[in-house]
Amino acid sequence: MAAMHWSSGVVATGLCLWAAYCLVSVEAANWAEKFGDNINLTLYLKDKNVTFNINDSVSILSHPGFKKALPTVLYMHGYTESNQSRSVGLVANAFLKRGDHNFILVDWNYYVTFPYLKAFFNLFQVSHALAKSITRMVEAGVRPESLWVVAHSLGGQLAGVTAKDLDFKISRITALDPALPGFTFDGIPNLGPKDAEFVDVIHTDGGFFGFNQLIGHIDFFPNNGTRVQPGCPSYVTGLYDGHCSHHRSWDFFAESLLNETAFPAVACPGWTNFTAGECKSTDVAYMGIRAKEARHRPGRYYLVTAEEAPFGKGMLGVANLTTTSSSLLSSVTSLFGGGSNQKPLPTNWGWDQ
Ligand SMILES: *[C@@H]1O[C@H](CO)[C@@H](O)[C@H](O)[C@H]1NC(C)=O
Ligand SMILES: *[C@@H]1O[C@H](CO)[C@@H](O)[C@H](O)[C@H]1NC(C)=O
Ligand SMILES: *[C@@H]1O[C@H](CO)[C@@H](O)[C@H](O)[C@H]1NC(C)=O
Ligand SMILES: *[C@@H]1O[C@H](CO)[C@@H](O)[C@H](O)[C@H]1NC(C)=O
Ligand SMILES: *[C@@H]1O[C@H](CO)[C@@H](O)[C@H](O)[C@H]1NC(C)=O
Ligand SMILES: *[C@@H]1O[C@H](CO)[C@@H](O)[C@H](O)[C@H]1NC(C)=O
Ligand SMILES: *[C@@H]1O[C@H](CO)[C@@H](O)[C@H](O)[C@H]1NC(C)=O
Ligand SMILES: *[C@@H]1O[C@H](CO)[C@@H](O)[C@H](O)[C@H]1NC(C)=O
Repeated sequence: MAAMHWSSGVVATGLCLWAAYCLVSVEAANWAEKFGDNINLTLYLKDKNVTFNINDSVSILSHPGFKKALPTVLYMHGYTESNQSRSVGLVANAFLKRGDHNFILVDWNYYVTFPYLKAFFNLFQVSHALAKSITRMVEAGVRPESLWVVAHSLGGQLAGVTAKDLDFKISRITALDPALPGFTFDGIPNLGPKDAEFVDVIHTDGGFFGFNQLIGHIDFFPNNGTRVQPGCPSYVTGLYDGHCSHHRSWDFFAESLLNETAFPAVACPGWTNFTAGECKSTDVAYMGIRAKEARHRPGRYYLVTAEEAPFGKGMLGVANLTTTSSSLLSSVTSLFGGGSNQKPLPTNWGWDQ
């Protein structure tokens, strides 16, 4: 496999094809940090977190807390996130509770601060430094088959760009609502199924902060994969959702680590077919950690979740929604703006005060 290294300059040139973006993208490429080595790899252990510079990734392997026999998760956080983010704590704790993986946070907080455009260009520098760092770990004896990248939002795209820069294929990339803004242009590298032996994607804010196309071997669309996710605050338009729907991706994933069969999903051509009960609940794939079991049945998968944790509804989440009990009906209704956490609709629609 030919490795591909994208630099921010190459990407800026690509964006220049869209004249309106040219000035702003060249400017932002100039902001991009040149070396991308101010990144920490933090090994999470039960009693402490141990931090290494990415230049020093090989030292992780000789730390007594790193278990060579176990597969290793590299978690890549999103825009404006850091080791303090709730997503990191939630996913790390769930993996530590399982105890069957090494868990390493790729802490690139230095590169993903406001504004987004700068973080976007930094990604193409960071990915190169990260690819070199991962390559050194592999040269030091880590098997690519034991590497699993779990990544949220801009981290999901970082995972794809980094993977394209490697001379080997890692085992798996799980992208938790990978970022949309900036990644829809032709010529901009996007996460895709070739980036790992298995790529699974959980879409929760498709078309807004999240990518809405099929970009994995298996793409899950809980509650249609779009905002407003059940239980998220919103008016009908979805504009008040904030990051709630986007963040559901890691809420669901973290829950699956502790309850592997909480989220069965069915293969289905679309949401309308799904809610009409046209898809057979025998074509099940489990969203989350067990998704890989369905790698020979690629495609789009749908399910319904609860409004609050625990989100998984088991087989009720894929039951024939046309033949339903009232509880199922209410969860479907909530997709269209009936969530219990929701602010009441203004009766006068905001004008005529
Ligand atoms: C490790 O870091 C996380 C934050 O990312 C924190 O919640 C956790 O308490 C830390 N663990 C230890 C043992 O200090
Ligand atoms: C990492 O390595 C690069 C290139 O060898 C070097 O320029 C940089 O100073 C190093 N950074 C750290 C934090 O050690
Ligand atoms: C989080 O990162 C900061 C520096 O960026 C560091 O001082 C702190 O120890 C880290 N916390 C954990 C829990 O790793
Ligand atoms: C990386 O970790 C070191 C040691 O914990 C800390 O001093 C530094 O601030 C961290 N860098 C970033 C960018 O978080
Ligand atoms: C479901 O998602 C598709 C595209 O992802 C969108 O076009 C459609 O409007 C959504 N349906 C509902 C009911 O939200
Ligand atoms: C899905 O819905 C479309 C349009 O309603 C319909 O043409 C198609 O046959 C349905 N597919 C399945 C598998 O039910
Ligand atoms: C779902 O229910 C509808 C209405 O009762 C029925 O026509 C359809 O065959 C059912 N689909 C499945 C897959 O059971
Ligand atoms: C896992 O999720 C299923 C479906 O919601 C639920 O029935 C079951 O009780 C959960 N198991 C645990 C251990 O939480």
